[in-house]
Amino acid sequence: MYPFQIKTYEDYKRQYQKSIDTPEDFWEEIAEHFTWKKKWDKVLSWDFKKPEVKWFEGAQLNFTENCIDRHLESKGDDTAIIWEPNNPNEQNRLITYNELSIEVNQFAQILKNLGVQKGDRVCLYMGMIPELTFATLACARIGAIHSVIFGGFSAKSIKDRVLDAEAEYIITCDGSFRGAKSIPLKSVVDEAIEELDPEIFSGVKKVLVVKRTEEEVRMKAERDVWYHEEKQKVSDTIFIEAEVMEAEDPLFILYTSGSTGKPKGVVHSSAGYMVYSTYSFVNVFQYNPGDIYFCTADVGWITGHSYIIYGPLAAGATSLMFEGIPTYPDSGRFWDIVDKYKVNILYTAPTAIRSLMACDNACVERADLSSLKVLGTVGEPINDEAWQWYHTKIGKGNCPIVDTWWQTETGGIMISSLAGVTPERSTFASLPLPGVQPCLVDEHGKEVEGNNAQGNLCIKFPWPSMIRTTWGDHERCRQVYFSAYDNKYFTGDGCLRDENGLYRITGRVDDVLNVSGHRIGTAELENAINEHAIVIESAVVGYPHDIKGQGVYAYVICEKMPKDAEGARQEIISLVRDIIGPVAKPDKIQFVSGLPKTRSGKIMRRILRKVAEGEIDQLGDISTLLNPEVVEVVILGRV
Ligand code: WT7
Repeated sequence: MYPFQIKTYEDYKRQYQKSIDTPEDFWEEIAEHFTWKKKWDKVLSWDFKKPEVKWFEGAQLNFTENCIDRHLESKGDDTAIIWEPNNPNEQNRLITYNELSIEVNQFAQILKNLGVQKGDRVCLYMGMIPELTFATLACARIGAIHSVIFGGFSAKSIKDRVLDAEAEYIITCDGSFRGAKSIPLKSVVDEAIEELDPEIFSGVKKVLVVKRTEEEVRMKAERDVWYHEEKQKVSDTIFIEAEVMEAEDPLFILYTSGSTGKPKGVVHSSAGYMVYSTYSFVNVFQYNPGDIYFCTADVGWITGHSYIIYGPLAAGATSLMFEGIPTYPDSGRFWDIVDKYKVNILYTAPTAIRSLMACDNACVERADLSSLKVLGTVGEPINDEAWQWYHTKIGKGNCPIVDTWWQTETGGIMISSLAGVTPERSTFASLPLPGVQPCLVDEHGKEVEGNNAQGNLCIKFPWPSMIRTTWGDHERCRQVYFSAYDNKYFTGDGCLRDENGLYRITGRVDDVLNVSGHRIGTAELENAINEHAIVIESAVVGYPHDIKGQGVYAYVICEKMPKDAEGARQEIISLVRDIIGPVAKPDKIQFVSGLPKTRSGKIMRRILRKVAEGEIDQLGDISTLLNPEVVEVVILGRV
């Protein structure tokens, strides 16, 4: 039981009201339950116009003291991390809080020995191994700003991120296991570094390499060092002081896609992120000490940051970290893990649920799932069919499901039921967490009040873990999130509120796709496709996809229609894989002679979307187009 854990619906309503009436008092009381080096002078100051938001100003802390040190006395021998490897026959690892303390301390010393200092940016491009958690916490321990890059991203994506953050240090692995495959992470990093222009960025000083797959790697003298060798040089008994962090010092950068081609480095701060990730973890999942909690996300995404590492560890939880994929060795992998460790709380993505639903029922039936108490989903809207299957087949009708809506930018869960405490409804994220003030706005930017309403989802008051800036480009942060509506944070999502005030997220209203829970900007995809020598122009839209939620549909104009269309398609697909990564690969490519455009030359995506969705009788008025005749051609060539 945690002092700030809400246990009844009545209590939720009271807490929610308090968080609106007196937000400073509300958050101050919660913050009292953390370890601070120095307490705050002021709880909140804010101005969405700039934007500038400061929580717990004047406070000093180190998040890792809250994730590790403060637990050592009471639960040093409790398991902090259960690590389950890709291959079920390989040895797993159980890491206690005491062991975690030693590992993170050693890792922190290694980073210091390499020259990393407070404020330096460190890119982590690793597989899902315990060392990824150690590395993340070690950065936080010494005040370095980590930027974790998902292990499925390409060399070009790494290059862009290293450059944007001006990261002089990279931590990687020789390779990582993913199902039957292994990914040569170190050589991808080598390729990324080679592509960096020394004139623009003076360069990566050190690459620290953790051994995992034992595959051959090239080690560049002076620059590249092995983790296991560096570890020999540091003490496991002498502990270094955790760096003093100011409340608003950046904790990490995490890149995410937006409407333009260039990924944005979302910056999260130290104190606010700590308080909110922990508070939301304990309340949404109704975590109780001793529970085994399994979040299937990758640490490369915000879900892994907030709800594999920071939130759970700050709550002293046992967090299960899984290296593999849901379908290896077979599609019963998640359920076998639940059975093996008697998992109590399972947090996964609708896309995983949909793909596992389609698999052999025997894979579910063979596992004992009776330990499960709470189920969660995140990343995209969950359709009713998937929700019902999750509820009956996995939860056996006994487990509340929390459908958690949030974003990389929000740092923590914003709208969700609290498991078993507040109302839930299939396909609805349900109610805002205390401290979260959502509102719906119409096309004129006017707030739509009352129930049974629909509009664009905004948040009209700051919450502790909100985005502070986009790295190196504050104006972009203002423009993307704070300029669309006066004095409000704009989420980019459409939303409706039902007759009881429950929220349902209907999907993105901007040029961002959500493919298998991964966020990909259409501009990013188009830039990649346009790199192909034969391509003149392209336009990408999403269409409903049974498993992925949204699929990628690309309309491509070539110099001349390719003779070997299938060959050209394959080339474009592999180009996108190389430039962005396998998650972004187009599902459908249609070669077209033209794209529908407005008189000002803007591509009419609405029409392309309708065609991709197969709703060709709902194209609306096309007479204002510059070239209405291409619409028919586009319809005829639909794939
Ligand atoms: C976008 C944020 C938050 C961690 C994973 C994704 C969509 C997220 C839900 C949900 C409907 C959802 C939204 C949001 N989304 N959760 N429960 N129901 N849609 O983080 O990559 O920053 O993407 O994912 O469209 O804006 P992200």
